[in-house]
Amino acid sequence: MIDFDPYSIEFHNDPYPVYKQLRDEAPVYFHAPLNIYAISRYADVVEAHRDNETYSSAGGVTIEGTEAGGASLITKDIPEHRWHKALVTKVFTRERMGAMEPFVRELCVKLLEKAAEKDEFDFVNDFAVQLPLSVISELIGIPEEFRHDIHYFANMMLARGEVDPAQIYKAQKASDATYAELIRYRRAHPRDDVITLLMNTELEDDQGVVRLLTDEELAARFLELAVAGHETVSKAIPNGAVAMQRFPSERQKLLDDPSLFAGAVEEILRFDPPSQLQGRTAARDVTLHGVTIPKGYRTMLLTGAATRDERKFEAPDVFDVARDNDMVSIYFGYGIHRCLGIHLARLEIRVAFQELLSRFPDFEVFPDRATRVVLSNVRGMSSLPCRAGARTYM
Ligand code: HEM
Repeated sequence: MIDFDPYSIEFHNDPYPVYKQLRDEAPVYFHAPLNIYAISRYADVVEAHRDNETYSSAGGVTIEGTEAGGASLITKDIPEHRWHKALVTKVFTRERMGAMEPFVRELCVKLLEKAAEKDEFDFVNDFAVQLPLSVISELIGIPEEFRHDIHYFANMMLARGEVDPAQIYKAQKASDATYAELIRYRRAHPRDDVITLLMNTELEDDQGVVRLLTDEELAARFLELAVAGHETVSKAIPNGAVAMQRFPSERQKLLDDPSLFAGAVEEILRFDPPSQLQGRTAARDVTLHGVTIPKGYRTMLLTGAATRDERKFEAPDVFDVARDNDMVSIYFGYGIHRCLGIHLARLEIRVAFQELLSRFPDFEVFPDRATRVVLSNVRGMSSLPCRAGARTYM
């Protein structure tokens, strides 16, 4: 019997033994109570990402699929997806993200120095949330006074389990109003940021019409960038800190050889990916490993299981910062929905650990006292006590 309950706190505390059982015993698993299928082996997950005609995103990308029919890029299929993605990709370039590095570094230093003034600080709220939230806010132009609400709305919308659906609905409404207000504000006060650029970039749409984004479309881009731009990074950084603590030799390798930081980012994301699953809907009957997923059934691509697949990775449960990188980097998705924020996410995580380790090489986190969040497809913590320890003077 496989006890796969994606909403239980026990599962969120350590989903990896269940994932192994799924890969070994039921690579295409039917979860009767939730009426969903789950695919867990690396090769199958990659193939499902690639085959976006068979595995549609239009039914939503979480287990529940409640976001289906919304304006987000992530829930659009071809052809609609193509235009919207091309437009944001035009603005979200590697060069533009690379230019953020000095800002990201300065912010990291400021946050870490301030946090370390306390004997014990909260690694999540004092550092890992503040960093990506400020970076994405700067990039897309969210004024300071809106930022707290944006983080609150994002968490409410992704929350599952204990949270009252009425509260989620209220947060959604408040969030819509906030974004409408932000767009009015930005039209009146244009500046050199991603949203102003999006407002002024014309592209030929699916109907062959060259046009600008409407206010409604802009609000959708705003919301998805604000949410996607900080939720995952703020989970990835604490996941990485815990991994470094569990595997001290890897922390030491980074201290000895700073050229390993870029690879360490990939290993953090492989070892404990913040985005644990991508939901799809079968657009036709598909037979895999002798199981037929009937057309119309919700099917989860278990990224968290795929990145620990021993068929692909040697000793997958070992955190190894010098591991040969997985070139597909499936933790960022693959195919048409591949993450838009890859360059930014990699930059933020790399700089966060460079600055943390170069200042506080002996930092200590206390996962036993952490609070874990049960979000539909995101794995991470909402608080993690940390002691900075002795400082290195540079
Ligand atoms: C460690 C950090 C991150 C991880 C692990 C991550 C992961 C992912 C994954 C797995 C997908 C594919 C979803 C699917 O196929 O259904 C995705 C899509 C997306 N991500 Fe990220 N992401 C991260 C950071 C970011 C950042 C910083 C941004 C924005 C600045 C961002 C924006 C997006 C957007 C807009 C999409 C939808 C793309 C599309 O549907 O074409 N992500 N991300």
